[in-house]
Amino acid sequence: MRFLELYLSLAALAAKSNAAPTLLGRSVTPLSASDLASLAPFTQFSRAAYCPTNKLRSWSCGQACTANSDFQPTLVGGDGNAVQTFFIGFSPSQNSVIVAHQGTDPTQLLSDLTDIDILMVNLDPKLFPGVSSSVHVHQGFRNEHAVTAPTILKEVKRLMLLKNTKKVALTGHSLGGALAELDSLFLTLNLPSSTSIKVVTYGVPRVGNASFAQLIDAKVPNFRRINNKDDIVPILPGRFLGFSHPHGEVHMLSPGNAVSCPGDDDATDARCEIKSVPNILEGNILDHLGPYEGISIGTIFCT
Ligand SMILES: *[C@@H]1O[C@H](CO)[C@@H](O)[C@H](O)[C@H]1NC(C)=O
Repeated sequence: MRFLELYLSLAALAAKSNAAPTLLGRSVTPLSASDLASLAPFTQFSRAAYCPTNKLRSWSCGQACTANSDFQPTLVGGDGNAVQTFFIGFSPSQNSVIVAHQGTDPTQLLSDLTDIDILMVNLDPKLFPGVSSSVHVHQGFRNEHAVTAPTILKEVKRLMLLKNTKKVALTGHSLGGALAELDSLFLTLNLPSSTSIKVVTYGVPRVGNASFAQLIDAKVPNFRRINNKDDIVPILPGRFLGFSHPHGEVHMLSPGNAVSCPGDDDATDARCEIKSVPNILEGNILDHLGPYEGISIGTIFCT
């Protein structure tokens, strides 16, 4: 994956990206125990996306699969290598179509040293009809998303009809979270407006610029991005490069203790990501893998 720029070329620069306006009238609120617990199925789907495709097809990927034992996979794609693994299926207990994307492990990212370009580009108007040209996203993420987008749309449509549901949930960790974020806008623009789209991502980097973030805010209200403790990925690429997160930050602070942070990319509260990790030297890449309320995510956690 073209991803290492997140770690290397921006490392020094991210340190400078720590100034933001203070907005009044917003508050950071703790998540209730039940709200926190309701995330677990999505954490496990994101975890499962790292498992081998043959185990996903038979839904026999160990704990990550048994945690959502009623799930019915209908399409498993990608190869975990040139194309990130993804899977689609139906969850009776959520009464929802589920789309989950695989991410990358930090160790894999560190071996990918060659690609340092970090261009921001328009979204393809064929995939994202009607989106303003001021909406810019990371080129690598855009290209990766475009590879699987039409296949995913087709299968989601088919399943919504087959299962008679209007609910679609998107999830993924790391790069997989970035792909889920792009999917959330893509599917919103290409499915009937009666569709209810829910997004839960983990350790997601910044995907686009402020215009992109504002579009997600406007079009995808049910959007949560979970950050764990001092993970450095969510502060990359740096805001000084024009990148911005949408709304929906949930910051996990310790077991049983997470807060919901208001606005886009909150930079004002010590419990939220930016203040917790002002630069990557003060972060901890191991927190990227979790545990997210006891659940770790990554290739080695497909057990
Ligand atoms: C997003 O990027 C585009 C292209 O550089 C720019 O025209 C637009 O103003 C940016 N949006 C924001 C809110 O900065």
